[in-house]
Amino acid sequence: MKFFVDTAEIDAIAELNDLGMVDGVTTNPSLIMKSGRDILEVTREICDLVDGPVSAEVVATEAADMIAEGRKLAAIAENIAVKVPLTWDGLKTCKVLSDEGRMVNVTLCFSANQALLAAKAGATFISPFIGRLDDINLDGMELIEDIRTIYDNYGFDTQILAASIRTVNHVTESARIGADVITAPPNVIKALANHPLTDKGLEAFMADWAKTGQKIL
Ligand code: E4P
Repeated sequence: MKFFVDTAEIDAIAELNDLGMVDGVTTNPSLIMKSGRDILEVTREICDLVDGPVSAEVVATEAADMIAEGRKLAAIAENIAVKVPLTWDGLKTCKVLSDEGRMVNVTLCFSANQALLAAKAGATFISPFIGRLDDINLDGMELIEDIRTIYDNYGFDTQILAASIRTVNHVTESARIGADVITAPPNVIKALANHPLTDKGLEAFMADWAKTGQKIL
């Protein structure tokens, strides 16, 4: 399973990237706003840092403008995946840009039918938003499962990029179902290392070690 980091914060990306944890990055207009940076500058810096796909989102809502924005974003670096919302204009944009050989991430996906359309429009990635479905009492993981089944039934090669991940359990479940990629905020990726028994065990080892009076260095 590939790990994308869902942030536009350079320091957080660099820290995880140094550990080999970063297969790509996703950004969106809200994350760019939070970073306080210029979209073209920060996206270029992220692309320089990371080898894998870096999603940068268009903000126009009509296909002609979305296509123009997508081409401008794609010109930043070879590893840009142009992110478009799952609207009819977004699907038109997806088709045009993928026919040009560009990576496209279709985002804001909340149903299996939307995911089917994105695959038919040639999307490289489909981004179903798990957390936002859970927020309104629907089952985000069920959507990942449905899309996995449908894509496998017909051999679509669009990658399932489980997004809007809020908890470590979302990561486990996405991996169990067979999502190709998860994108999660840095704190969720770091929290994957946590276990109370690890902390408890380490505490006991340290207490016993202190009693030996020994040193390794
Ligand atoms: C994915 O590409 C989105 O940027 C992100 O996962 C949205 O997450 P949120 O619902 O926590 O904002």
